[in-house]
Amino acid sequence: MNKAFDLAGRAALVTGGGRGIGRACALSLAAAGADVAVIDLDSTIGEELAAEIRKLGRRSSFFPCDVASPDQVDAAIDGVANLFGRLDVAVNNAGVWRRGADETQAPADWDAVVSVNLTGVWLCAMAEMKLMRKNRPAEGKIINIASVGSFIYAGNGAYDASKAGVVQLSRSLAAQWGRYNINVNCISPGYVGNVFGRSRSEEERQRLREITPLGYVQRTADLCGPVVFLASSASDYVTGHNLVVDGGHSLSTWLRPLERDLPPRVDPAGELDDIPVVAGY
Ligand SMILES: NC(=O)c1ccc[n+]([C@@H]2O[C@H](COP(=O)([O-])OP(=O)(O)OC[C@H]3O[C@@H](n4cnc5c(N)ncnc54)[C@H](O)[C@@H]3O)[C@@H](O)[C@H]2O)c1
Repeated sequence: MNKAFDLAGRAALVTGGGRGIGRACALSLAAAGADVAVIDLDSTIGEELAAEIRKLGRRSSFFPCDVASPDQVDAAIDGVANLFGRLDVAVNNAGVWRRGADETQAPADWDAVVSVNLTGVWLCAMAEMKLMRKNRPAEGKIINIASVGSFIYAGNGAYDASKAGVVQLSRSLAAQWGRYNINVNCISPGYVGNVFGRSRSEEERQRLREITPLGYVQRTADLCGPVVFLASSASDYVTGHNLVVDGGHSLSTWLRPLERDLPPRVDPAGELDDIPVVAGY
């Protein structure tokens, strides 16, 4: 392994780690050598993932937590501090989506999305920063999962505004916490097959393939390399950045299919694969 990407001996946590993108991030950090705590609302999938990480030979525990609750966030991060005695990498991934255009949504829908997607990231980042500052020397990597909805229309105002907020929150925290050697960056996925692929029709998936330059629907595995990069010393001089990982989807405003010369790297049968790449970093 290239040592710049080696996470051996690092202590990490992933919020919303029980499934989907969070699970892929947790397993890829563990594969790169990190011990990884799992934070999630759902105890069943959280405990299962912690067991899976321990099978990889890394330390892991599950901490139940609603990231929108300040008390629960503090309790979960205290649990991580007791488990590892330090924190090097935090992936703030927990997020929710409420279907429907703005004119059909109630204030409660707005609150539900913004409290988890934006306030939850702020609460977690604050608690994580305090723990990272106790590292000797103080340092850490905070990676917030935003979305292409942070800069293109992705369905409704609550979700898009919450994700735009995550990007600018990350820039603001990056500017403030560089003095502690804490990097704060975002990853913005496009439409990932684990959710989008299963909840949409084949016709919609085909349209997405046709207007995405790399030609296939994103897999959770496509987030693994980017998260390991931002967690590792390979990205030590990168902070306040929003790393867009969307196959080029947000580059395109074409109303008809993009032209291809070659088949895409992944064919439709592989798009719904929920198995992250767990080796090779
Ligand atoms: N799937 C996509 O297409 C896509 C695209 C761009 C960005 N994202 C973002 O990526 C992140 C993960 O998305 P996903 O598709 O894997 O979602 P998912 O719904 O498959 O998984 C989300 C996980 O977060 C947990 N969770 C939800 N609310 C929580 C809370 N209040 N506190 C703690 N845990 C909570 C859930 O239990 C679940 O395990 C989200 O922030 C989402 O907005 C997803």
